[in-house]
Amino acid sequence: KRKVIIDTDPGIDDAKAIIMALAQPDWEVIAITLVNGNCKIKHQVNNIARLLHVCERTEIPVYKGSECSLLGNYDLQTGHHGVDGFGDVFTYDVNKSMIRDENASIAIVDLVKKYQGEVTLITIGPLTNIAMAIRLAPSLGSQLKDCFIMGGNIHGHGNVKPCAEFNFACDPESAHIVLNELRPPSPITLVPLECCNVSHLNWDIYKRLGKIGSKKNNFTQQIDRYTAREKMEAGERMIVYDECAVAAAIDGNTIEDYFEVYVTVELNGQYTRGQCVIDYEMYLKKSPNCKVIKKMSQKKFEELIFHSLK
Ligand code: BDR
Ligand code: CA
Repeated sequence: KRKVIIDTDPGIDDAKAIIMALAQPDWEVIAITLVNGNCKIKHQVNNIARLLHVCERTEIPVYKGSECSLLGNYDLQTGHHGVDGFGDVFTYDVNKSMIRDENASIAIVDLVKKYQGEVTLITIGPLTNIAMAIRLAPSLGSQLKDCFIMGGNIHGHGNVKPCAEFNFACDPESAHIVLNELRPPSPITLVPLECCNVSHLNWDIYKRLGKIGSKKNNFTQQIDRYTAREKMEAGERMIVYDECAVAAAIDGNTIEDYFEVYVTVELNGQYTRGQCVIDYEMYLKKSPNCKVIKKMSQKKFEELIFHSLK
């Protein structure tokens, strides 16, 4: 089975992305690691425990990671996911036996070493845990099978700052370390904000899923209420973020268009801190470190989401 680590800040779209990953029969999710982002870790432990109970996958080990960025900030929470990250809809208590004592970055280092060359790393939150893991084990990337990251942007289109995407804006230093120092055997597959903005789902999927009434789907419907239903009623599109990175990892055919390029992150700009810098013309003379996805194939992507959530 393909060994997968998911680094996440659950999060409404994180929840759906994780459900997609857990629905793959040929995947073994060997760890879910939590990182400060959409909400604080103290909420994330409840969220992930509830999600794993709903999916009946409480055997999957979960590790708590960094509670703030490398430089110590943790003030970017947008409220899009509610205060608790899952739309503030659940109050029931949940058994958290899957939460381990070991730190997330240490667990990542240990697991990647244990399963040399076999692990697919998927990151759908800020990159703090991974940057710290690189500092603990500089050769981490070379021991991976491959790596998929949801984060950053290609045209300087921001969603929390004028020019920066949330996951990179939360911790630009970590994003910089990961892009420049992870160096997995093949370029990192990067799913930037602009890809997500054009790879939205048709609402029919959402409505069809709503009719099925599966436990998993009911759960996502409940947390979605905070954003998705309002958006549907307002005639907006259903945008997916973290789901794109998991879809790309599940099946390369879901990727419709991409390019390979050297990508880094601006750390100093007054307005542009956290923005991706794309060296289209190779001025920096660095070999491509990323396969940047421009667009997902809507049909294939929708099928994947539908089959995972139903
Ligand atoms: C990213 O920000 C978060 O709010 C989402 O979970 C996703 O990982 C999109 O910019
Ligand atoms: Ca996320």
